[in-house]
Amino acid sequence: MITLTKPTSQAVALTCARCGTPYKLESLNTFATCCNQPLVVQYSYEHPLLKEDLPGREATMWRYREMLPVLNPKNTVSLGEGMTPILPFNRLANVHGFSNLLVKDEGLNPTGSFKARGLSMAVSKAKELGVDQCIVPTAGNAGGALAAYCAKAGIRCTVVMPAHTPKIFMQECELYGAELVLVEGLINDCARKVEELKKEKCYYDISTLKEPYRLEGKKTMGYEIAEQLDWQLPDCILYPAGGGTGLIGIWKAFQEMQQLGWISGRLPRMIAVQSLNCNPIIRALHNPTGWKEGFVPRPTLANGLAVPYPFGMDMMQKVIDESGGYAIAISEEEIVEGVREVAAAEGMLMAPEGAATWKALLHLRQLGIVHDSETILLMNTGSGYKYLENLG
Ligand SMILES: Cc1ncc(COP(=O)(O)O)c(C=O)c1O
Ligand SMILES: [Zn+2]
Repeated sequence: MITLTKPTSQAVALTCARCGTPYKLESLNTFATCCNQPLVVQYSYEHPLLKEDLPGREATMWRYREMLPVLNPKNTVSLGEGMTPILPFNRLANVHGFSNLLVKDEGLNPTGSFKARGLSMAVSKAKELGVDQCIVPTAGNAGGALAAYCAKAGIRCTVVMPAHTPKIFMQECELYGAELVLVEGLINDCARKVEELKKEKCYYDISTLKEPYRLEGKKTMGYEIAEQLDWQLPDCILYPAGGGTGLIGIWKAFQEMQQLGWISGRLPRMIAVQSLNCNPIIRALHNPTGWKEGFVPRPTLANGLAVPYPFGMDMMQKVIDESGGYAIAISEEEIVEGVREVAAAEGMLMAPEGAATWKALLHLRQLGIVHDSETILLMNTGSGYKYLENLG
């Protein structure tokens, strides 16, 4: 008789990103209080998932279930996120002389951005751990995604967002039944408001990297990049970094896949793209101890990049360093130009954050950081449709 076993999570522990202190996987955790750093999910490789098992599985990020932290599949809260296409940008590549220019289009996820991955995972774990009320500070996309997944899970949701965010981000939260709180300022001001609200009510805080599971959702981009490119990774990946979950997550996926024996050889150089209006990663790379002095972060029309003091800064720096990567910032004018160029040449309306990677690429080539002959992957993290108000 053949016994069919359901795939089960191989998650075994949560550890502090800095010192490795273990935290209980079965408990509702936030971050590693020992070092004020994020918590990271660790997996067992004793009965590893085989890449040969993947064909035929569902076309969502949940196809990697063994390497994800949801223990009981019944707790999965999914709207069909993940397995977004990787498309060639042939026309731009021809005009500008790149041999292999690719884009992963995360704008096709539920709620129009890659935030769907992290919030699907975080809400699934929140459900598994019995949470009934969540809160998040957001630059826009994470709020809409949390609201949608909470609606699907039957969990109450509060979203705290800058008042200058395009209206559609507010409307979607309300339509998904979330409570919306507007704050003058940037996401760090929203985070302060969240701390205030948490004193009044018992919310589970889903802030970037202050709970362990959004990272696990975002890492599936790394698994997909490898699988969709037939296990031949690109030479470099350009990622628009705000809080940095995607940058850190993709790198985590590559390391897990090395342990699984799915990939070998050199890993891609991870390049963080920011806005000149808010570029903490670049400041910190140049001046690790004094970067906050004289820093006046400003809003950017790439709303998701306006994260002045990311909690995951040390982890992002480590990824850039370990991968031999780089960080670069782009002006507001170039970001708008980028959206227009890509839309007109490739038929893709990128989020301004994604378009920043295209303009960054042209600078990186001039600087000799990236070369024409390389395989280059741009991450379009969201749909431009939600930003039309910004694009004028
Ligand atoms: C479209 C888009 N791109 C990039 C980012 C930055 O993402 P991360 O926090 O993973 O760096 C955000 C965050 O809000 C976003 O909405
Ligand atoms: Zn620690």
